[in-house]
Amino acid sequence: MDEESVTRLVREFGSPVYVIDITGLTDRFESFQRTARQLYANSEVAISYKTNPTAALLLKLHQFSAFAEVVSKPEFDLARRLGVAECEIVFNGPAKNDGVLRDAILGGSQINCDHFDEIKRIEKIATSENLVAKVGLRLSLPTKGHFSRFGFSTDEPLDRSEAAMIARYVVDSKSLSLGGLHSQIGTNVRDLDLFRHQGACLATFAEFLKSVFGVELSWINVGGGLASIAPAVGTDDATPLELPDVGDYCKAVYGALKNYLSNCKNDPVLFFEPGRTIFGPFGATLTTVLGIRPSAHNRNAAVICDAGVTAIPLSSQFDFPVHVPSRKSMMETYDFCGPTCMQRDQLANSRTVPKLEVGDSILFYGTGGYNIALANSFINYRPGIVGWDSAGRFEWLRKPETFDSMKDLHMADFTE
Ligand SMILES: Cc1ncc(COP(=O)(O)O)c(C=O)c1O
Repeated sequence: MDEESVTRLVREFGSPVYVIDITGLTDRFESFQRTARQLYANSEVAISYKTNPTAALLLKLHQFSAFAEVVSKPEFDLARRLGVAECEIVFNGPAKNDGVLRDAILGGSQINCDHFDEIKRIEKIATSENLVAKVGLRLSLPTKGHFSRFGFSTDEPLDRSEAAMIARYVVDSKSLSLGGLHSQIGTNVRDLDLFRHQGACLATFAEFLKSVFGVELSWINVGGGLASIAPAVGTDDATPLELPDVGDYCKAVYGALKNYLSNCKNDPVLFFEPGRTIFGPFGATLTTVLGIRPSAHNRNAAVICDAGVTAIPLSSQFDFPVHVPSRKSMMETYDFCGPTCMQRDQLANSRTVPKLEVGDSILFYGTGGYNIALANSFINYRPGIVGWDSAGRFEWLRKPETFDSMKDLHMADFTE
């Protein structure tokens, strides 16, 4: 984004504000979907709502027939309000309440179960509705370097594993049927070998289900996990990393599952649930310099910004790249702080950028995944979100919070 665009953005929408590159985001989604389907026609991409639950943005992705991946009743309700049919919702997560589970069962959502108590609740609901609920099992896989506290353990020997016991319970139940397998090996993963290993573990368990119970699955869901562009804090000089190629990723996963999938009679659906890799690279947070504190105690000069860790909470984990849209040639090294009175409200340290003055704009980019979802209104209200397209147009996706929009939260008995 050049200096003119940024000036226009601040003039029309204020600061701080989140900006989403709509064209970049939808192109990445489309290319993910196309690549997955070229490899295996029965592939679906479900969009991870928690990663960026901006309704106007999700609607744009649903125009490309994205499924919704949700992990709570609020997210399930949001998908329904956006017009997504229950049967195009993938329902994950460890805490699904009975009311929403009933809606999901009756509507034919893909329900991936996290633990045994949840399975028993689903069985009870299905029995009371006199129907058979198709469920998936989330597997906790022994993927290298990764431990997942979610799902059923597949520790060897496989036939004595927790996942095998649960599969038997589901197969024996009159009100349940075994529909699929799910797993999520981590997040911000760059090592494709981990995804190959995930695919291989899922294939092994799927073959086990076929040979022991005669079950052929309706879906295999490999979750999300693919990386974005921001380096982890402390790993290097905050140069953005390359965005992983979706073709390489899909080939890694599909390659490991190909034999199983092609030997099934009923063409199971292969599901992907990308989040960070779709949203992360195409979001930025625009903030304005409020003041510059001179260097002291051998530290760099500190730039006080009008957005801080409450707007970009993941800045404690990632070195989001900084872009200063300025033609000034003199460079300076700064630390960047937020506007709150918390000591830890620090966005970035030791970044060299064109010399700054009060009122200058700064873009932290690569912030489109999880930050908007995790932002909070501690001390300040949450910023609005603006969409930016390839024709250079801006539009509100969500307006900023204001005293009026938040007054119900301020005081229950508020009167004018
Ligand atoms: C079940 C599930 N699906 C999808 C995602 C999205 O993951 P990511 O943002 O790493 O792609 C997550 C994230 O934790 C998840 O738990």
